[in-house]
Amino acid sequence: MKTQVCIVGAGPSGLLLGALLAKAGIDHVIVERQSADYVLGRIRAGVLEQVTTDLLVEAGVGERMQREGLVHDGFDLLFKGTRHRIDLRALTGGKVVTVYGQTEVTRDLMQARQAQQLPTYYEAQNVAIHGIDGESPKVSFRRGGVETEIECEFIAGCDGYHGVSRQSVPQRAIKTFEKVYPFGWLGVLADVPPVSHELIYANTERGFALCSMRSATRSRYYIQCPVDEPLEKWSDDAFWDELKLRLDPHARERLVTGPSIEKSVAPLRSFVAEPMRFGRLFLAGDAAHIVPPTGAKGLNLATGDVKYLSEALIEYFIEKREAGIAHYSSRCLSRVWKAERFSWWFTSLMHRFPESGEFGQKIQEAELDYLVGSVAASTSLAENYVGLPLQ
Ligand code: APR
Ligand code: PHB
Repeated sequence: MKTQVCIVGAGPSGLLLGALLAKAGIDHVIVERQSADYVLGRIRAGVLEQVTTDLLVEAGVGERMQREGLVHDGFDLLFKGTRHRIDLRALTGGKVVTVYGQTEVTRDLMQARQAQQLPTYYEAQNVAIHGIDGESPKVSFRRGGVETEIECEFIAGCDGYHGVSRQSVPQRAIKTFEKVYPFGWLGVLADVPPVSHELIYANTERGFALCSMRSATRSRYYIQCPVDEPLEKWSDDAFWDELKLRLDPHARERLVTGPSIEKSVAPLRSFVAEPMRFGRLFLAGDAAHIVPPTGAKGLNLATGDVKYLSEALIEYFIEKREAGIAHYSSRCLSRVWKAERFSWWFTSLMHRFPESGEFGQKIQEAELDYLVGSVAASTSLAENYVGLPLQ
């Protein structure tokens, strides 16, 4: 089988790239290791920057998000028992974020793809990448006992942190940068109304907490916990009790609890692979970089990559120019590192670090105090939170 672009991975990066290529009339297929239901079962962050919502609209999949997404003009920082509002709209000259679950973004992309009958091979086993140094790379896989080989002009590695794409690059050609944080996030999804109409990021002596939401009737809460925490330790009651201890009195009173519909512990990591192109293989999204979830930059970074990659491929196939391909990696990385810096900084500011003790806590509180009291500092937080412009 032959195509112009073979996309490996049908997460949000692969699906969005597919939608943009289809719109430009570029022939492509997607090869995904898991089933569609499995992909939809993953629960991830849900704060979309304007660049992401714009790109979803451009790709023709923004309708439900525009109808159901919750526009947030600000969020609260909670420290020393008091909440302080960061007014995103006022601080950034009118920019906002949209709260709409990544699962819903993925569902909208999948449905649009299905409606257009674009080729997607789910449950592909032994996916392997060949010949990225030459003119005609290939992706091979096994599905339902049948071996398939796809010949293409480019491969888009959109297969996440554990995917095969990055691992197919020779060691000498790639450099990775990594920081692993000494804690995790215990997350609970529950069909209860959110405690507040905006998000609350809390710094407490007991550790970080986050109150988020998926809709007016579905909430998403997180608390910082040891990364190897056994889930059995956290009954629903134990989770709600600990969350309450990390909230201010007003929120504690308002918090509506209920049975969890999902509960899991996620590790926190910062990771970047450089460069993001090797011959005819491009990396995009989690395949190239991971941020800790504080600030919800993961999906927004992935959509930036996809925008640059779709532009580069459209330029190559339609306008016969290679500049976009040559600049893809450096264009992405300058944005990626800025978001890495912000996510690392926000994580460092809001979490309890076992080694830094009471001194560390006091320094964080002083920085938070400065942040909410200084227009310059709040503006810097706000402009990073709503997303830096695409260059
Ligand atoms: N072959 C084919 N597909 C694979 C392989 C493989 N060897 N390995 C992994 N995959 C698939 C995974 O099953 C998954 O569906 O690639 C997809 C990668 O999707 P994501 O991990 O969601 O990554 P991405 O699409 O880049 O999304 C970025 O997701 O993880 C969050 O915080 C992140 O929000 C960001 C967004
Ligand atoms: C979420 O809703 O899951 C979420 C929101 C904001 C974050 C991280 C996660 O910073």
